[in-house]
Amino acid sequence: YIRPVILCGGNGKRLWPISRRSMPKQFARLSGDKTMLQDTIGRLEDAGCNEPIFVTGEDYRFIVAGQAEEIGVTGHKIILEPEGRNTAAAICAAAEVLHQDDPNALMLVAPSDHCLEDTLEFAQAVAQAAIAARNGKIVTFGVRPDRPETGYGYIELAAESAALDTAQPFVKFVEKPDLDKATQMVEDGRFLWNSGMFLMSVATAREAFGQHVPDLQTTVSRSVQDAEIDLGFVRLSAAFSDAPEIAFDYAVMENTAGWVVPLASDWSDLGSWRSVWSETARDADGVATRGAAHATNCKDVLLFSDDENVEVVGVGLRNIAAIATRDAVLITDLDDSQAVSDVVVKLKADK
Ligand code: GDD
Ligand code: MG
Repeated sequence: YIRPVILCGGNGKRLWPISRRSMPKQFARLSGDKTMLQDTIGRLEDAGCNEPIFVTGEDYRFIVAGQAEEIGVTGHKIILEPEGRNTAAAICAAAEVLHQDDPNALMLVAPSDHCLEDTLEFAQAVAQAAIAARNGKIVTFGVRPDRPETGYGYIELAAESAALDTAQPFVKFVEKPDLDKATQMVEDGRFLWNSGMFLMSVATAREAFGQHVPDLQTTVSRSVQDAEIDLGFVRLSAAFSDAPEIAFDYAVMENTAGWVVPLASDWSDLGSWRSVWSETARDADGVATRGAAHATNCKDVLLFSDDENVEVVGVGLRNIAAIATRDAVLITDLDDSQAVSDVVVKLKADK
């Protein structure tokens, strides 16, 4: 059986002003009545993965506990980081906790900020990946790329024709290439996007950390041994803050001979307002509205009001996202929406 390890400690600045430091995007209701975290939990349950381990920051503990309770999750644990040290340390902490609790489990590491259309296809991919994971492999889930996205990791297959139906060893993992490299890889045809999920046994994960980032593992393991256990929370000790700050993709995947299972589903990291626009229902003019928002003579726009007292009205706009909340308004060209985070880091309003 498979324990989900749900990473929900990041603070998605590109989706400001809906995503705030106090309420990051994974806890927000962006495109339905459930939050992205709740959608993630549901998708994993549908794939037969229950009793999740959440890894998040101290500040988010009641949000995570509340959202899990709201949809009736049971048997879960919430690991609390004194501060975020990126995904390698977060995943390592989950592996150490599972080593104590449930050492024979497989762990399915999943981000909490994704949109994945085809739940059945996902469940099948997980079942296929589990066979390789039981055999000591680290398994990734690869999505066919349709553009040279620089915000993703890429997985190189042995041959193009090998791509679409079976679990297989990959040749190489490349995290966040520059645009030239990404363009080259998409044209090559043998590369898949890394969807950001990983399936492996607890033992394989611990071995990989020990081999590739032994110092990180020593530090994190100490913070798990000294953790304070309190009402379903595992509060890591302060030692955790000494762990090197590095993504799992760089620390482990780029140095691992892993496996990949193709995932033939619409998938996206709802990482920017452009991607939210493309995942939201639109009319024939490409107009998407949410909340108290109205468009006239607009083309390809996203108008979003998060406060019923704030009306958003767009007239004659092209390729624009306008996002209003109680205390902040963002207006951006959809093509520039990746750059929102550059401004937000300088803002006092990011509370
Ligand atoms: N607990 C915790 N602590 N969670 C974290 C931390 C942390 O310090 N940092 C990030 N996360 C969570 C985020 O909330 C998100 O759910 C997940 O870990 C992935 O982190 P991102 O920061 O969103 O990674 P990314 O999108 O840049 O890159 C990853 O995902 C891509 C697909 O979305 C990589 O795996 C890429 O290879 C992949 O293509
Ligand atoms: Mg992401």
